[in-house]
Amino acid sequence: MKQFLSRMEWPSFVKALLWGLLVFLQFHQHRGCFHEERIALLELKAFLKSNIIHADVLPSWMDDAKSDCCRWERVTCNSTNSHVINLSLYNLNNEPYYYEYYDYNYNGQDDENRCLLNVSMLVPLKELKSLNLSANSIGGCLPNEGFEKMSSLRNLRILDLGYNYFNNSIPQSLGAVTSLETLILTQNKLQGYFPAQELIALRNLNKLDISRNYYNGFLPLQGFERLALLPKLEILDLGSNSFDWSIIPFVSGLVSLKTLSLVDNSFVWLNTTTGFESLSRLENLETLDLSYNNLNRSIIESLPAIKSLKNLNLEGNDIGGSFPIKGISAFENLEKLDLSGNELNGSLTIQGSKSLSRLENLETLDLSGNHFDKSIIESLSAVKSLKNLNLAWNDIGGSFPAKELSAFENLENLDLTWNNFDGPLTI
Ligand SMILES: *[C@@H]1O[C@H](CO)[C@@H](O)[C@H](O)[C@H]1NC(C)=O
Ligand SMILES: *[C@@H]1O[C@H](CO)[C@@H](O)[C@H](O)[C@H]1NC(C)=O
Ligand SMILES: *[C@@H]1O[C@H](CO)[C@@H](O)[C@H](O)[C@H]1NC(C)=O
Ligand SMILES: *[C@@H]1O[C@H](CO)[C@@H](O)[C@H](O)[C@H]1NC(C)=O
Ligand SMILES: *[C@@H]1O[C@H](CO)[C@@H](O)[C@H](O)[C@H]1NC(C)=O
Ligand SMILES: *[C@@H]1O[C@H](CO)[C@@H](O)[C@H](O)[C@H]1NC(C)=O
Ligand SMILES: *[C@@H]1O[C@H](CO)[C@@H](O)[C@H](O)[C@H]1NC(C)=O
Ligand SMILES: *[C@@H]1O[C@H](CO)[C@@H](O)[C@H](O)[C@H]1NC(C)=O
Repeated sequence: MKQFLSRMEWPSFVKALLWGLLVFLQFHQHRGCFHEERIALLELKAFLKSNIIHADVLPSWMDDAKSDCCRWERVTCNSTNSHVINLSLYNLNNEPYYYEYYDYNYNGQDDENRCLLNVSMLVPLKELKSLNLSANSIGGCLPNEGFEKMSSLRNLRILDLGYNYFNNSIPQSLGAVTSLETLILTQNKLQGYFPAQELIALRNLNKLDISRNYYNGFLPLQGFERLALLPKLEILDLGSNSFDWSIIPFVSGLVSLKTLSLVDNSFVWLNTTTGFESLSRLENLETLDLSYNNLNRSIIESLPAIKSLKNLNLEGNDIGGSFPIKGISAFENLEKLDLSGNELNGSLTIQGSKSLSRLENLETLDLSGNHFDKSIIESLSAVKSLKNLNLAWNDIGGSFPAKELSAFENLENLDLTWNNFDGPLTI
């Protein structure tokens, strides 16, 4: 330091110090949000306000140079570089029941009056990672101002457009946002031609939710199998559409899948020659949801053994007869089985108990809403791993089954509500 000062005159040292301070201060000013991002958000607010929002929302988004947009509601910035990374613009009108009702507020007639998005307005937010626009009655995008404009947002990973009125014109423009990992399109107006060609451009896609739309199996399957070209696709939700059995062989080709939901489709037309066996190709599948599909026992018995499966949901189908179901013990890694709301009855045979006890990891079993009697309890005690057992809404009568219950070794939660017990309660 001494040497340094001796070579430098004092005044120039002070000058250097002042420069340093100035640079430091300027840097510090940038620790608030970036000017161009603030302006973009304000323009977006003005646009949303004149198009979607009826009430005076986003009050913290103030047109005041001193206001730091990183502190605004529904905005998150990167704490290191202060770029906007997360916009949570869901349900801007604070509709109380938006997420609860299917097709809430749907009225085909006033489609033309729905707000159309101008995606260009988001382009200045170049570090955006996550955008949630769900539940805003958005009807689509302005002509030439669709999601293709987002191709410059190289960090956008999560896009939630659920609970809006987007139609078929949307998937095309989404193909440009190649960084997407999560795409939620639940409860929109997608129908007709399945946009496989557009979706396969999203090579990083991990989760695709197109549940609650209007796709059906009446058109030929339009290249659905091409989704197999998405190497990272692990979660696929096709629930509450009208796909029929013919989709199964195509879905079976998506071998990276870990979670597949086919809840509430039109599998009522299924017959036993459905090609369900092709599901065995899904060697990574851990969760399969087939609830609410009118599937009967013979169809379920044709399910192949998917060894990786941990969670099988068969709630609300039409499965009758006694328990267990042939082949269920082949799902040897099953941890959770939901058979609630079916037509099962009777007790387990000894053979049946044995086959169930082979499910060494089965921790959660839901048999509520069937027609079991008291003998089911004793039979189930053979399943040593059981922690959660739901037997509510069955026909279990007589005295409280204290003795039978004491045979369970690991039980933590037991639901026996809405049965027909009588007599004194002795535990
Ligand atoms: C914030 O920015 C820094 C530097 O650019 C980056 O390394 C980090 O991953 C970012 N964090 C988030 C949560 O985006
Ligand atoms: C975005 O912000 C919302 C609200 O602050 C938060 O709940 C959500 O987890 C954030 N999303 C991401 C991907 O960081
Ligand atoms: C959409 O927004 C961009 C950026 O603000 C603007 O330049 C463009 O004119 C807008 N397009 C329409 C059709 O309003
Ligand atoms: C978007 O926001 C809604 C409402 O808070 C939430 O339910 C949904 O999970 C969010 N989407 C994502 C992808 O986080
Ligand atoms: C989709 O919605 C947009 C905007 O409301 C409309 O202009 C277009 O005609 C619709 N397209 C289809 C195929 O329904
Ligand atoms: C199961 O459903 C299929 C198709 O609906 C039908 O063909 C078959 O007879 C049913 N099986 C039983 C055992 O009811
Ligand atoms: C099963 O369904 C397919 C397709 O609808 C049909 O072609 C076939 O005849 C049906 N088989 C039986 C045994 O009903
Ligand atoms: C169980 O259900 C089957 C088929 O629905 C029926 O045939 C049988 O009688 C029932 N058994 C008992 C014990 O209720």
